[in-house]
Amino acid sequence: MAGTLKIWVTRPLFDDVIDRLREHAQVRVSAQDKAPDAQALKQGLAEVDGALLGLSDRVDADTLAGNTRLKAVANVGVGYNNLDIDALTAAGVMATNTPDVLTETTADHAWALLMAAARRVGEAERYVRAGHWQGLRFDQFLGHDIHGRTLGILGMGRIGRAVARRAAGFGMRVIYHNRSQLDASVERECAAHYVSREALLAQSDHLVLLLPYTPEAHHIIDATALAAMKPGAVLVNIGRGGLVDDVALAAALRDGPLAAAGLDVFEGEPNVCAELLACENAVLTPHIGSATEATRRAMANLAVDNLLAALDLGQQAGDPPSLINRELKRKR
Ligand code: GLV
Repeated sequence: MAGTLKIWVTRPLFDDVIDRLREHAQVRVSAQDKAPDAQALKQGLAEVDGALLGLSDRVDADTLAGNTRLKAVANVGVGYNNLDIDALTAAGVMATNTPDVLTETTADHAWALLMAAARRVGEAERYVRAGHWQGLRFDQFLGHDIHGRTLGILGMGRIGRAVARRAAGFGMRVIYHNRSQLDASVERECAAHYVSREALLAQSDHLVLLLPYTPEAHHIIDATALAAMKPGAVLVNIGRGGLVDDVALAAALRDGPLAAAGLDVFEGEPNVCAELLACENAVLTPHIGSATEATRRAMANLAVDNLLAALDLGQQAGDPPSLINRELKRKR
């Protein structure tokens, strides 16, 4: 029997996973897979005790103004730059995300983009489909080697480390830059060497961006950073849109020094800037880094676990497994 608490699921998700919420609360699920506008989000959140949010639902002090009911928001995703955590904490609203369960799947996709970009898979596939192939040509679609090259990783969190571990199979040298250097034991496990940001840009044959988006990281890869990259390098962004100046990237793909790019995230997505769309040497995917059935289910289930715990429902008593604003941990 559903209780009296109300929950809003702002995007359609696996129905059987949402059923886990329906056992305990009255649940409204938005029909459309589209971010509600700011006013609809504010109003919707004022009418519920908890919400399961998509990554483009922006919650800030304005959204929360006058809201005396909301107790928890559960992001279905690991990144949470859509949430103003200080504002949520000030309002006493628990915020959660879905780390760990998507690490390996997202690392797989980083490699899919890296390999597709370096070996020109997108271009070559479009060529075959268009009926242009006249026969094998020795010098056609010459790409860039992956094995034996230097892999650079900017942002060495869980996913960065999972990307690094995979490089062993390709006999690559792995270098990384991060806010802080990892413990020696973790570096050994990933066979990765800490370098300065300048060295990372200058030495990487393939550079993967995996840092969270923060205002300080806005356009961390801008025209100057791109110009400092190795000629013929491949850039992969599977972190967040806004880390890269997409217009400057398009110029670097057109005029050098970059050979190719693999991009899963874009500034202002789902819009992609026209300059990038025009780059044959960019492989573009629509923010699908964690998109396998198993992983998306695991994320949805973890978000539900978080919300049930935050609202003290069902078996999930205790603090949410992935509480972001830990200041709101319950005192026992
Ligand atoms: C995806 O981008 C996520 O943050 O989960």
